[in-house]
Amino acid sequence: MPEAEVEAKKNGSSRKKKKDALGWMEWLRGWLYVIYEMLFQRILASHLQNPLPLPPVNDLTCIVTGSTSGIGREIARQLAESGAHVVMAVRNTKAAQELIQKWQEEWSGRGLPLNVEVMELDLLSLDSVARFAEAWNARLGPLHVLINNAGIFSIGEPQRFSKDGYEEHMQVNHLAPALLSVLLLPSLIRGSPSRIVNLNSVMHYVGFVDTEDMNVVSGKRKYTSLFGYSSSKLAQVMFSSVLQKRLPAEAGINVLCVSPGIVHTNVARDLSRVVQAAYHLIPYFIFSPQEGSRSTLFSATDPQIPEYCELLKADDWPVCAFISQECRPTNASEEAHNIETSYKVWEKTLEMTGLPSYAVERFLEGDEVKCRYGAQQV
Ligand SMILES: NC(=O)c1ccc[n+]([C@@H]2O[C@H](COP(=O)([O-])OP(=O)(O)OC[C@H]3O[C@@H](n4cnc5c(N)ncnc54)[C@H](OP(=O)(O)O)[C@@H]3O)[C@@H](O)[C@H]2O)c1
Repeated sequence: MPEAEVEAKKNGSSRKKKKDALGWMEWLRGWLYVIYEMLFQRILASHLQNPLPLPPVNDLTCIVTGSTSGIGREIARQLAESGAHVVMAVRNTKAAQELIQKWQEEWSGRGLPLNVEVMELDLLSLDSVARFAEAWNARLGPLHVLINNAGIFSIGEPQRFSKDGYEEHMQVNHLAPALLSVLLLPSLIRGSPSRIVNLNSVMHYVGFVDTEDMNVVSGKRKYTSLFGYSSSKLAQVMFSSVLQKRLPAEAGINVLCVSPGIVHTNVARDLSRVVQAAYHLIPYFIFSPQEGSRSTLFSATDPQIPEYCELLKADDWPVCAFISQECRPTNASEEAHNIETSYKVWEKTLEMTGLPSYAVERFLEGDEVKCRYGAQQV
């Protein structure tokens, strides 16, 4: 067991009172941070070019989830136009095929045809996630960058559960990408040095994860879509931090989280008409999808990122690298530094996604790992 994990467990058993929510100062600081980013993101990111110039990516194979809309669509297009092999992992394959056709037509005459393909992936089904990983790993090819972009924020909607029985924000934004990241390790090992880039959010600063109530059904707190979204994003940071620690430097795989900023996309599709209208009236403060794609593209391709991630690991920093919308390393929320909860989130996530506790270590040894979902049922 890694030293940090032992330490976290020791601290946990010596701690008397379990934390039930964010402290109000923590919560207030979190909201101030969210408002600050919303008001000043354009000024803070004014040093960045748009589109962001990318280093050579011709040798990279990148999977981008949820690339039929918003930030993911921009990420996929720009990576493809810069020469990468892009796999659009999407639930609507027809929409993705139509996009590819459009991009190829627009690109025609500017260079070789774009190297983009489509594979089906529905994050609301853990079977679909496992089948996707199985199909990709079966190719025995390398994967250099996994971009976990797909996400939902069902603003104002009632609580909903996936057919796997999990609250939908938690499943789409955290559990399914976590399962995908672990199951794709064999391909990421083949592609090493490789990266897992998770599209996170400043909203994780106001999130809180109760590992005994990941579905928010115990009645201890009232479910709101805001709570569902922010806690799923915090869970992602916590899981990513433990995954990064579990991957030895020799594996050459780094895990990081990134904030795209506040971006004008379909993520607001569930907002009421009135709020949507207001959203459209404040374009100055809100990034376009192209602007919102910069921090992810930076995290996926910048040559200094692996060194930075390894430095954090060597320093035993409790959180994985977190890159801000202005493409700078930033600090994740105070709660994300709670190592004890991070390890609980790790354990709970493996349990909920049907992965054995030794999954990562087995993959690193080159062994097969069976998962409860997909064709490989145990
Ligand atoms: N926009 C913002 O201000 C903002 C801020 C912080 C973080 N983010 C994060 O950025 C990421 C991208 O969001 P966006 O703003 O670009 O929103 P978006 O335009 O709504 O795009 C989300 C993408 O996720 C896909 N998706 C949703 N549910 C899925 C499922 N069950 N299986 C597979 N794919 C699914 C959607 O597919 P369809 O095209 O088929 O609907 C869509 O392509 C999300 O993780 C979001 O949380 C966004």
